[in-house]
Amino acid sequence: MKHPVALTVAGSDSGGGAGIEADLKTFAALGVHGACAITAVTAQNTVAVTGVQEIDTELIEKQIRAVADDIGVDAAKTGMLSSSGIISCVARYIGSRPVPLVVDPVMVSKSGAKLLRDDAIRNLQEELLPLATVVTPNIPEAEALTGVKITQVREVREAARVLVERFGPKACVVKGGHLTGERCVDVLYVNGSFEELESPRVATKNTHGTGCVFSAAIAAELAKGSGVIQSVRTAKAFVTNAIIHSLGLGRGAGPVDPSSWLEIERERLLVLNKLKEALEVLESSPAVRRLVPEVRINLVMSLPARYAKGVSDVAGVPGRITDVGDRVRAAAPPAFGASSHVARAVLKVMEHDDRVRAAADIRFSDEILTAIRRLGLLVSSYDRKDEPPSVKKREGSTIQWGVEQAIKKVGRVPDIICDPGGMGKEPIIKVLGRDAAEVAKTMVKIADGLR
Ligand SMILES: Nc1ncnc2c1ncn2[C@@H]1O[C@H](COP(=O)(O)OP(=O)(O)OP(=O)(O)O)[C@@H](O)[C@H]1O
Ligand SMILES: [Mg+2]
Repeated sequence: MKHPVALTVAGSDSGGGAGIEADLKTFAALGVHGACAITAVTAQNTVAVTGVQEIDTELIEKQIRAVADDIGVDAAKTGMLSSSGIISCVARYIGSRPVPLVVDPVMVSKSGAKLLRDDAIRNLQEELLPLATVVTPNIPEAEALTGVKITQVREVREAARVLVERFGPKACVVKGGHLTGERCVDVLYVNGSFEELESPRVATKNTHGTGCVFSAAIAAELAKGSGVIQSVRTAKAFVTNAIIHSLGLGRGAGPVDPSSWLEIERERLLVLNKLKEALEVLESSPAVRRLVPEVRINLVMSLPARYAKGVSDVAGVPGRITDVGDRVRAAAPPAFGASSHVARAVLKVMEHDDRVRAAADIRFSDEILTAIRRLGLLVSSYDRKDEPPSVKKREGSTIQWGVEQAIKKVGRVPDIICDPGGMGKEPIIKVLGRDAAEVAKTMVKIADGLR
């Protein structure tokens, strides 16, 4: 099987957030070899476009042919095309050897700069849209291309249908990023029917590159041989992820992060591996049995802070770690979302020191505390008696409050946090560490130090 190749014909964004740069990152993250033909060089950051230089059409055509003649193209996308001459040049090539084509009819940058000359809109409509597999206008672009005024989802559907029927692409997806509301709804019109693609609207100003990443992801999926509907669905999930994990770089609209798609998977594996390593350490040290509390040992590790949005991003041991007579044993292999209490503690700790990503609950006893102090570990604590009633009322918030108290008391994230318990609550000691294996090793040291 030949490795799939996607070609982007678009402008360069010196800030790396949109354009060719976003497209190539997206192709890479989706397992497709990316090639490019640069139509214009922009000097750009998160705030403004400060310069644009179009590339000669002759050189654009050479770039496309160089790729097509040797490497081959399984799908292509267009982004910033700037002028009618460039549009004609791209249309000529695609018309002569049809490949699945995604046309992102880029007109205006996020920062408000014009990226397509007014006189080129007609060329776009007449020469390029008919060749497209999927066209991906945002709301203002859909309005400009179809004349349909859009204020709500019903009109988004209308615009998508009009665009397909009037200009002849196979499909159109009108993006809902520019509408308001709690959800971001894109409308796909293909083969005479509609599909709405929904995601939560992410509350962020960092959306530089959303449109480029979305259309590039569709092209990548088409290059791999997926159909239009599946490609658009994957692209929607992909861009949503890139927005959730967007980067707060620059003073304006920071870039979305297409690389997070792969990076998160890698980090999830690393976390699970660290937990497995930790379990081996604990299971091969019989002394650890003496650390098992009534509630059994809970050991967790979080994804790095920038990917840790909630307890589902923290892995733990389902069924916890129990004393099986001659040693301790995990009830099940580690999994994400397996803990809520210790997970919330770790998430809170990471707000203060994002290097400390793991924790375990062990038995509270004076003997264990003595062993801990002998190791020279920094110990802090909180007392449920000081808990304000407002915190007490909110289900599950005691632990976050307690962690705050313990950190405040010693001025930094300690190695150990003691919770002396309360009515119906077993007292517990939390062992903290950078990763699960470090926590496990500390636990073994504590257990070995017991007299
Ligand atoms: N705040 C957000 N939260 C979630 N999804 C969003 C958000 N903003 C945009 N999207 C999604 O991102 C994709 C791109 O849509 P958008 O309307 O932003 O495109 P665009 O205006 O062409 O972007 P660009 O300015 O980068 O060209 C769509 O799938 C849209 O639903
Ligand atoms: Mg756009």
